[in-house]
Amino acid sequence: MMRGKPFFARLVIGGLRKPKITRPGVDVAGQVEAVGRNVTQFKPGDEVFGACRGAFAEYVCVIEDKLALKPANISFEEAAAVPVAAITALQGLRDEGRIQRGQKVLVDGASGGVGTFAVQIAKSFGAEVTAVCSTRNVDTARSIGADRVIDYTREDFTQSGQRYDLIIAANAYHSIFDYRRALRPKGIYVMAGGGGVQMLEGMFLGPLLSLIGSKKMRSFLARINKKDLVLLKDLLEAGKVVPVIDRRFPLSEAAQAIRYVEEEHAKGKVVITVEHDNET
Ligand SMILES: NC(=O)c1ccc[n+]([C@@H]2O[C@H](COP(=O)([O-])OP(=O)(O)OC[C@H]3O[C@@H](n4cnc5c(N)ncnc54)[C@H](OP(=O)(O)O)[C@@H]3O)[C@@H](O)[C@H]2O)c1
Repeated sequence: MMRGKPFFARLVIGGLRKPKITRPGVDVAGQVEAVGRNVTQFKPGDEVFGACRGAFAEYVCVIEDKLALKPANISFEEAAAVPVAAITALQGLRDEGRIQRGQKVLVDGASGGVGTFAVQIAKSFGAEVTAVCSTRNVDTARSIGADRVIDYTREDFTQSGQRYDLIIAANAYHSIFDYRRALRPKGIYVMAGGGGVQMLEGMFLGPLLSLIGSKKMRSFLARINKKDLVLLKDLLEAGKVVPVIDRRFPLSEAAQAIRYVEEEHAKGKVVITVEHDNET
């Protein structure tokens, strides 16, 4: 999104030669300062979280359907870590993956922004969850509820012979054929993100492979909506989902925050904080 890479993704993001959307940032949490005259769901002073354009800012303008009241038990920083990553995990598991209680679910990229939510949300659906991450994140993956953790630096889960009902690749690092092999009959593979090759495979080979045999290979774009924000609010308030935050950067260091995220090894989410009248 930030660099317009791979190039073909610009067709989806918008803007072939330069970005159409020039104000970065999507996730937000904060307090309502003022409302438009047709707004019915919020009033000044409400504490909210959700998504908008240009979220790397002190003030943002948000459509009320992309906001929900902030869970009472978490901070603004934790709430700001939730919307896109958690909704991607939720919609990937529930809508694309048709997750069922008792299923064997594998989360590839389990220690990152989408993955840490996917592990916890899959557990909340009653699945048996295997998390895949690097050595330094094994303990984190266990602490958020993974039943089994595979360290990808020591074991390639696609070669181990284990089979899963649902595989969600928060970040896909294997070929679509490897993921397919690791599925049980009637299993579903869902790609949320990945490199250029994985994205092309997901978009073009996925639908074709889904026509052969009983396994389904899917990729999707998450849609932020109030219903799912409210569902996440309930999971957060029940303590079933807890945001994992790696680092916080002040707004003035947003560029460093993005560089850090680009390394693809952040543990959970990275949050940008806004100093405002001595309150964050
Ligand atoms: N479909 C949608 O609507 C949607 C929405 C939001 C995001 N996305 C996409 O979802 C993807 C994931 O986002 P994210 O925020 O979760 O990313 P992230 O926080 O950077 O997470 C990256 C994950 O990949 C793992 N990883 C890094 N190098 C690896 C390697 N060589 N082999 C295996 N695993 C490796 C990391 O594990 P370690 O740190 O333990 O190495 C970590 O778990 C991105 O591509 C993003 O663009 C899609």
